[in-house]
Amino acid sequence: MYTLPQLADFSPAALDNAALELKSAVESESRQVSNDSEWKVLRDRWMARKSGILTQLNDFWLKAAPGPSKRDVGQRVNELKRIVEQEIEAALSRITSSASASRIDHERVDVTLPGTRRKLGAEHPLIRTMNEIVGVFKAMGYSIAEGPEVETDYYNFESLNFPPNHPARDTQDTLFIAGQQSKPLRERLVLRTHTSPVQIRAMEKQPPPLRVIVPGKVHRAETADATHSPIFHQVEGLAVDTNITFCDLKGTLDHAMKALFGASVKTRFYPSFFPFTEPSADVQISCFKCGGRGRIEGARCSLCKASGWIELLGCGMVDPNVFGFVNYDSKKYSGFAFGMGVERITMLKYGIDDIQHFFEGDIRFLQQFA
Ligand code: DAH
Repeated sequence: MYTLPQLADFSPAALDNAALELKSAVESESRQVSNDSEWKVLRDRWMARKSGILTQLNDFWLKAAPGPSKRDVGQRVNELKRIVEQEIEAALSRITSSASASRIDHERVDVTLPGTRRKLGAEHPLIRTMNEIVGVFKAMGYSIAEGPEVETDYYNFESLNFPPNHPARDTQDTLFIAGQQSKPLRERLVLRTHTSPVQIRAMEKQPPPLRVIVPGKVHRAETADATHSPIFHQVEGLAVDTNITFCDLKGTLDHAMKALFGASVKTRFYPSFFPFTEPSADVQISCFKCGGRGRIEGARCSLCKASGWIELLGCGMVDPNVFGFVNYDSKKYSGFAFGMGVERITMLKYGIDDIQHFFEGDIRFLQQFA
């Protein structure tokens, strides 16, 4: 590696020689620099104030020059300093421009490539079923209503004709909000156990006639297993008008079940009890797997447990007591209501064997509905 010689001979020829050597040294060193840290080494080697070669140039050449040559040596030293500085500057711009050139090369955007597609999500199977049910009723002129999941005792129970302490409340496995004891019973908060409170809220908002369909989430104190979940979904319906009869209820639900499960399903209505309807019924549909026969090629149908019927929803004629809570004239108006479980219907439709699948968020399950 080049070291600056101490000069004994200050003749122009000797100086020319020495200057040439120095120039070719700095040129070749700067050409070999290929990155930032190498460049810094180069810069310090030549230009460091304390012991860089340019400083030595002053000490070894200029200061050592005898009087008569001082002027000539001084000019040459200045010229050499300029060349060294230029070389080192040039080395720096060479490495930075090649670095940015390679970066540009690397980052170049090919606008003709197809874009990165963001996959669209898909409806959750429960939402899909809920929308489907709602769609069937929307087509019959029902409007959509919704209500809060945290309800008062009044809306969840009292106005639906569950009097305080009535045993019918026990069927609802209620989750109570804590710390409500100081309030009057009807103001105490619960997680709604059904979507029926929205019947009351809808009737409070408008006079009859009225037709609403109510999708929503409900909560019960249930231990999770393959058929139970503390959170599930219901779709509620309510129609109130003059001259609404049980025939209207039957016709409406029969149509809805055919729309949801296929035109060949039959419906049957079984006596039941709900405090807010009188009379009340459970609706069964003929099993769409075995066609209501209970057997498939001689074997028991697993879907309807060989009965040929599947129980699907509750319904009834609105109890006049309920109209009393919302100031509807029960002499003039009548109505029907129904409520169905979305999980159960979805499980039946798609052959899902465990309600927990809906809530576990396992992408392998959900992807099947995409
Ligand atoms: N709310 C009832 C439940 O969750 C279901 C129900 C039954 C709703 C009959 C209705 C009805 O509107 O008429 O058990």
